[in-house]
Amino acid sequence: MKNRVLVIGSGGREHAIAWRLAQSSTVETVLVAPGNAGTAREDNVQNVVIDTADFKAVIDFCRVQSISLVVVGPEQPLVDGLVDALSDAGIACFGPKAAAAQLEGSKAFTKRFMQQHNIPTAGYAEFNDVNKAIEYLQICDYPQVIKADGLAAGKGVVIASDRQQAEAVATDMLRGNKFGEAGHRIIIEEFLQGEEASYMVISDGKTFIPLVTSQDHKARDNGDQGPNTGGMGAYSPAPVVTAEIEQNIIDQVIKPTLKGIAETEEFVGFLYAGLMIKDGDIKVLEFNVRLGDPETQPIMMRLNSNLDSLCLAAVNGELSKQQIQWDKRPALGVVMAAGGYPESYDKGAAIEGLPLVHSNVKVFHAGTAMDNEQVVTSGGRVLCVCALGEDLADARQKAYAGVQAITWQDVYYRTDIGYRALTK
Ligand code: AMP
Ligand code: GLY
Repeated sequence: MKNRVLVIGSGGREHAIAWRLAQSSTVETVLVAPGNAGTAREDNVQNVVIDTADFKAVIDFCRVQSISLVVVGPEQPLVDGLVDALSDAGIACFGPKAAAAQLEGSKAFTKRFMQQHNIPTAGYAEFNDVNKAIEYLQICDYPQVIKADGLAAGKGVVIASDRQQAEAVATDMLRGNKFGEAGHRIIIEEFLQGEEASYMVISDGKTFIPLVTSQDHKARDNGDQGPNTGGMGAYSPAPVVTAEIEQNIIDQVIKPTLKGIAETEEFVGFLYAGLMIKDGDIKVLEFNVRLGDPETQPIMMRLNSNLDSLCLAAVNGELSKQQIQWDKRPALGVVMAAGGYPESYDKGAAIEGLPLVHSNVKVFHAGTAMDNEQVVTSGGRVLCVCALGEDLADARQKAYAGVQAITWQDVYYRTDIGYRALTK
């Protein structure tokens, strides 16, 4: 019997996951809740409406639809315990349970966890009292990095260049309500220099298999300038992660993290370590308990194995029997965003140039919706145009050729995705 898979989420990551699943020889069909205009138009993929915050509704849907695998894309349902609820109901659900998802759900938990397990990370202090935080900020060197404790959709991190800014941000997070509950506790941490990379593995709790390396561009503007975003583009592999560094990441970060978290709850799912690398030294900036967005898009372009088989093997604790096959060619994706992102931006602009048909190029949708027969923008990050190439320069050239064929009013994108790798 072939698998009927339900993907939870609506971003570019979920489009890429659904697209890859739909091509698997062991998948019958893929349903996405709620999906976007990209998943709506994908062969063998269908959007469905379920209130995914209502776990009972998800369970009922899975039973009625004979779903054999649920893949959870974003962090919020993982932190909220969707996997716990589905597995208690006997439904195969790929992702960590709530206790393990704390690695992303609470930065304070994770900093303590890393200290306890000797996992390299930046020095820090933790506060829930504004006055104590302000007192501490008087004795710091600058810049300092201020982080809201809980989930903040990638917006809870501010690099404060001086004391005034740091005090304003700390006060705003602790007293204001910009970050809601997520900001009632903060981390103030040492600013690290170096080059960032994303390292992801798939884990069944006992065994893990690394994915190919990747790197995203978090800053909005060219040259990695401007405000932090969810990610403006990504590519795979990341040359900064040499074989030697990769081995260090596995030994110093991945193994102790999976072992440490298993004391509470075995980690099943994708574990993502956001790293800062300098002169061969690695430090963990953050963990995510899911795939990165937009790193997933180039990574899925390169995946040649059946994703459903890997996820089911992980859920069943049988990952040691699996292997992952990758396309040797590099892939690169450019995010096309709505002008004004990550602050305020318009929605509802008609996107011209879709569908784009170029060989080895794929347009993954994120913030898109259908307005009658027209694809329109409905979010900050709108599309991620990805390409496979003979080398990274070729992948970049193909991806940007795709970008140039698509437009809407106030479109914005970086023109230098991949520059760090290409200038190496
Ligand atoms: P996080 O969500 O903790 O990964 O933070 C988001 C982004 O902020 C990271 O990808 C980095 O670009 C930046 N960042 C976070 N922590 C630090 C740090 N300690 N030093 C320098 N940059 C940081
Ligand atoms: N691209 C970084 C993230 O998904 O958190």
